[in-house]
Amino acid sequence: MKKGKEGSIDAVVGLQWGDEGKGKNIDELLSEGKYCAVARFQGGANAGHTLKIGDMTFVGHIVPSGCLTKSIELYIGNGVVIDVVSLINEIKQLKDLGFDVTSRLYISNRAKLVSYLHPFLDQADEFMRNKSGGGKIGTTSRGIGPAYSDVRARRGLLIGDVLMSDFEQKIATLSEFHLNILNMYKEKYGFEIPVEKINEAKEKWNKAIQELKKLKICDLSFLIQKRLSEGKNILAEGAQAVMLDVDFGDFPFVTSSNTLPANVCLGLGVPHTYLRNIYGVIKAYTTKVGGGHFPSRIEDQALEKAFQDAGHEFGATTGRPRMCGWLDLFALRHAISLSGANKIFINKADICLSEKVKVVTGYKNANKTFKEFPLYLNEITSVITDQIPGWGKVNFGVNDKKKVSKELASYLKYIKTKLSDLDVKIISVGTGPDREHFFEWEK
Ligand code: GDP
Ligand code: IMO
Ligand code: MG
Repeated sequence: MKKGKEGSIDAVVGLQWGDEGKGKNIDELLSEGKYCAVARFQGGANAGHTLKIGDMTFVGHIVPSGCLTKSIELYIGNGVVIDVVSLINEIKQLKDLGFDVTSRLYISNRAKLVSYLHPFLDQADEFMRNKSGGGKIGTTSRGIGPAYSDVRARRGLLIGDVLMSDFEQKIATLSEFHLNILNMYKEKYGFEIPVEKINEAKEKWNKAIQELKKLKICDLSFLIQKRLSEGKNILAEGAQAVMLDVDFGDFPFVTSSNTLPANVCLGLGVPHTYLRNIYGVIKAYTTKVGGGHFPSRIEDQALEKAFQDAGHEFGATTGRPRMCGWLDLFALRHAISLSGANKIFINKADICLSEKVKVVTGYKNANKTFKEFPLYLNEITSVITDQIPGWGKVNFGVNDKKKVSKELASYLKYIKTKLSDLDVKIISVGTGPDREHFFEWEK
């Protein structure tokens, strides 16, 4: 690090299983005017981050959530796997909404390219898992797993490669390798992608690559360090969430990147010493989409459906219904300790559909009450719960702490008490999807 006064990096990460409302909170944090840029450091177009201003809604999969704030630079770091078709589509959608982001979007030349065959490999892998009885992961089919696998196997392509003279050769070699694998899936498991579908994907992808070449592809680590040395601050945008981290989530029901803020430094190319505040985002309840065990899932199906409907709990990327569960404090404490989150946003406090809400405080199996987080979530046979009075829907749109119903206030105080041995503050509570729908709780 250079001597003198420099800027710093704060990060926003999900502390549950994703879709906590990270996009909205990033937008909220930008209104403080403290940051010059929002930077994605991991994941890819598996993310779906919703931004809502009045009647306008934008769901970003790959473009960082600062896109609707015109003074903010947008960075896509080396740790991201880029779906070029999504990227170009989103840039176009934003332009149509009156936000031309091309002059403020910077892409790391070391970010990784999702090829047109990665999504098919993702689907083939899911097909095979299902057929062999192991159970699907329930991926977003965006090619995330295969793209990261190619990075680790050192055969994937970098974004900077598209500007090199040997790019055509490199993508042809990689595609041949992928087609051989797809052929294996066909012969061994009977999974086949029609040739026309592959050709269509290739054509779209090639067009998007031509558009990508016109964007600002750069040494992003250098740019970020320059901004920090100018005393500017950056907000790192986590995708997915701690419980989906490839190392610390419920393996294999995880995504293929490290979602923890420790990865901010690797995914952007900065020393860890720049990292300051970690904003952790949760909902007042929990949702999960995809396979794997979900300990706090609401057992009453009609009630789960009511939460799903009221919270519009359908995937922003795939449209799949999200499973709904109670707040899981055992998982949350684990997520806070892994992430170092010191400031918490709680969203969806406007939604409560039962007279009493449950909160999971511990996990059990036949032999023990768990002290440490289990290796596999399917080791759990029951959960320990508390019951708290519910608060109905009366808090929708509340933006002043003094106007909060007493039941919601006691729920927030209950959570705070349960986390009182940890160095965290509940700073803001969401009461609706709009930018304006929140109130500050603790300073
Ligand atoms: P992300 O992936 O963490 O950015 O979250 P998503 O965008 O996938 O899902 C969050 C959903 O909840 C979006 O539809 C948001 O518009 C919505 N949302 C965010 N905060 C609130 C809130 O406090 N109340 C309500 N009712 N909706 C919210
Ligand atoms: P945001 O950023 C919720 C889940 C998938 C699946 C698992 C692996 O919007 O919170 P992948 O396609 O990454 O290989 O899928 O991870 N998943 C998400 N769930 N929100 C997300 O992103 C997710 N991104 C991936 O459903 O269970
Ligand atoms: Mg989402």
